[in-house]
Parts: sequence; C-alpha cells; structure tokens
Amino acid sequence: MKFFIDTANLDQIREANDLGVLDGVTTNPSLMAKEQIKGEASIRQHYVDICNIVKGDVSAEVISTDFEGMIKEGRELAALHKQIVVKVPCTKDGIKAVKYFTDNGIRTNCTLVFSVGQALLAAKAGATYVSPFVGRLDDISTDGVELIRQIVDVYRYYEFPTQVLAASIRHTMHIIQCLEAGADVATCPLSAIMGLLKHPLTDAGLAQFLADHKKVNG
Ligand code: G3P
Repeated sequence: MKFFIDTANLDQIREANDLGVLDGVTTNPSLMAKEQIKGEASIRQHYVDICNIVKGDVSAEVISTDFEGMIKEGRELAALHKQIVVKVPCTKDGIKAVKYFTDNGIRTNCTLVFSVGQALLAAKAGATYVSPFVGRLDDISTDGVELIRQIVDVYRYYEFPTQVLAASIRHTMHIIQCLEAGADVATCPLSAIMGLLKHPLTDAGLAQFLADHKKVNG
C-alpha cells in the first residue's frame, strides 16, 4: 500500500515527506492553480521542485484534450524528471494517449475515473495508475469506496497490473476504507494523513506516563 499526498503545495509536501511515510505526489490543474503558479516554464519547474522533495512518483496532468496535444505535452512532462507520471483524463483521446504512452515506455495515471467501465479501458490501455474519484462520487450520493472495491476485484480477477490510486480522498476514514477495499495507493490531503495519527487515548496515555515519571523523578 502506498501513500501519496494530493497537493502542489511545497510546504505540505515537505511536511508529509518529513514523516518518512510518503511514497509520491499527485497534482492536477486545479491544485496547481491554487498555488498561483503562472506560465509553462514556472509550472514545469514546480514539477521538478516536487520531484526534488520526494523520492516517489509525481503525477503531472496534461492540459491538452486532443490526442496530438496530449502526446506532445505528455512527452515534455515525462522528460522533466524520471519520477514524473503523466496524468491523462479518461476520455476517448485520453485512452488513446495512455495506449501511446504505454507503447513508448511513458508511465501514466488515468484520472477523472468514475466507473468500472472507465477503469477497464484504462487498464486495457496499460495505465500505470487509475484514479477513481471517491469524494466526488460521495458528493452525489454514490458510494465511492464501493467503486474502489469493484475495480480492485476486476483488476485482480483479470490480473491487470494497473494500480488503483484512490483519489478525491476527503478525510481520514476515506483512507482506511479505500485501503480496506484493496486500493494500491491512496492520495490524500495532508489533513487526512495527519488525522491517522490522532487518538485521544494516545495523548492521555502519554500524559499519564510523563506524570508518573515526574512524580518519582521530579
Ligand atoms: O487528484 C484528484 C483530487 O485532487 C480531486 O479531489 O476533492 O477536488 O474531488 P477533489
């Protein structure tokens, strides 16, 4: 099971990486825009900056929506750093592009996936990762974790190597539920990762240890 952080914020990436349990980073155009990174050169440098913080895979998403544009952009992104994984939306041109990248040794993350059917096409095209959006399904009263479970079952039955990267994780319980469902990766906001640490009995227990020690040792 791998832990990715879902942000383009370098401080949050550093904080998560300093925990020593981070396996990678996912970004998307909205997360990049949130950091106010303007212009192609700055955007590409930012991806390299992220790669220089973490040791694992870093998903960088194409903006192009047509096959030719995706190919050109994806090749440029992949050339930035060996850790870059080209993120491509699950559309007709996107699936064609994933297949092209597979045939040309470029690793991909097929994103904006909301059904088993889409996940099946991504795996058939050879995607390295597939990103089902759990939170956005929950937002419309659909069980996002159940989708993770279904995709995992299909991939295991047909032995697809594509890794299920649970995305659109909104809180700590999503992490637990997606991993229980068999996801290979959960890409999470920092708050959800830090939420895994929280337990009142740990805090109370530590306080008691220290108080008992102090009673005797001052
Ligand atoms: O990586 C996809 C993720 O960033 C989407 O999350 O909360 O915008 O659905 P959210």
